[in-house]
Amino acid sequence: MLNWNEFSTNPSQSAPAGEADATGLGAIDRGAARVSVDDKRMINARADVNQLLPLKYRWAWEKYLAACNNHWMPTEVSMQADIALWKSRDGLTEDERRMVKRNLGFFAASESLVANNIVLAIYRHLTNPECRQYLLRQAFEEAVHTHTFQYIVESLGLDEGELFNMYREVPSITDKAAWALEYTRHLDDPNFRTGTPEADQAFLRDLVAFYVVFEGMWFYTGFAQILSLGRRNRMVGIAEQYQYILRDESLHLNFGIDVINQIKHENPHLWTREFQEEVRQMLREATELEVAYGRDTMPRGLLGLNAGLCEQYMHFIANRRCSQLGLEPIFPETENPFPWMSEAMDLKKEKNFFETRVIEYQSGGALSWD
Ligand SMILES: [Fe+2]
Ligand SMILES: [Fe+2]
Repeated sequence: MLNWNEFSTNPSQSAPAGEADATGLGAIDRGAARVSVDDKRMINARADVNQLLPLKYRWAWEKYLAACNNHWMPTEVSMQADIALWKSRDGLTEDERRMVKRNLGFFAASESLVANNIVLAIYRHLTNPECRQYLLRQAFEEAVHTHTFQYIVESLGLDEGELFNMYREVPSITDKAAWALEYTRHLDDPNFRTGTPEADQAFLRDLVAFYVVFEGMWFYTGFAQILSLGRRNRMVGIAEQYQYILRDESLHLNFGIDVINQIKHENPHLWTREFQEEVRQMLREATELEVAYGRDTMPRGLLGLNAGLCEQYMHFIANRRCSQLGLEPIFPETENPFPWMSEAMDLKKEKNFFETRVIEYQSGGALSWD
């Protein structure tokens, strides 16, 4: 017969006395009181992380539902027109091909870096079940995005080694990945725990680096490049896939902003003047890295885009992210040079995805078991 006391007294299987189990995998506390909404916290929660209900952060739950409603798969999008254009000698200019390939190379590895950060760094320390519910959904979406790049490589017959190694071999892409990895590596230390101001700020830096910078700034030049091709009726399959990715990513970004702001609200001692300055500095560095990427991928202008306009766009986006985080703007006020990007985000204006999709998803109630 099992001796349950053995499990609850084994220090490797239970949280230290007085410290709540952050992972949700520790020994079961049989005598604990039921979770009340007031016990729930974004980080360092004392409440059981396995209890979704009662909900405290309805915004996280709403985003989970919205994400589920946005479900799509890359293979539902026809690549026939893209394949014909890519294979025809005069279909695209050399500059356009370089831009497309580097863009795909940047995204192919970035989706994986973002997914690894969610699963291996963020999930463990975000001690709230409704936020974790969203993170599980987001992790799957990042897998769908990585799948998109596999599907594109296969469809167009691209050199897979070239594409998936760009994050190591093309300096303007490597510099961005290396910058972000600095922040996640800190959390990768098996001894890392939140609970001190220094550790909690390290966690916030990771959230800023991945949600605000990676998904909220760097992806946007990439979206503008491909959607600009799509607007000119070129590489329309990839452009359609990027629209779905953009729709997912704008939810990821907004979730990240809400998480950061909620942590700030619950832990105002972390959001010091110095720390705010540090976050602004991170966004400034991220802008510089993106400007370098713009010059590298578009050495000459193309498709109504050029490195100068992309720089202006990044200044506009960086200021917007500052305002979402309650920070002073970094750059002088500037207009959005790509106002059509906000239209591209609203898929309903383009077409009704659910009418064009190839595969019909069955809801649970429609499944037949015989
Ligand atoms: Fe993604
Ligand atoms: Fe994402």
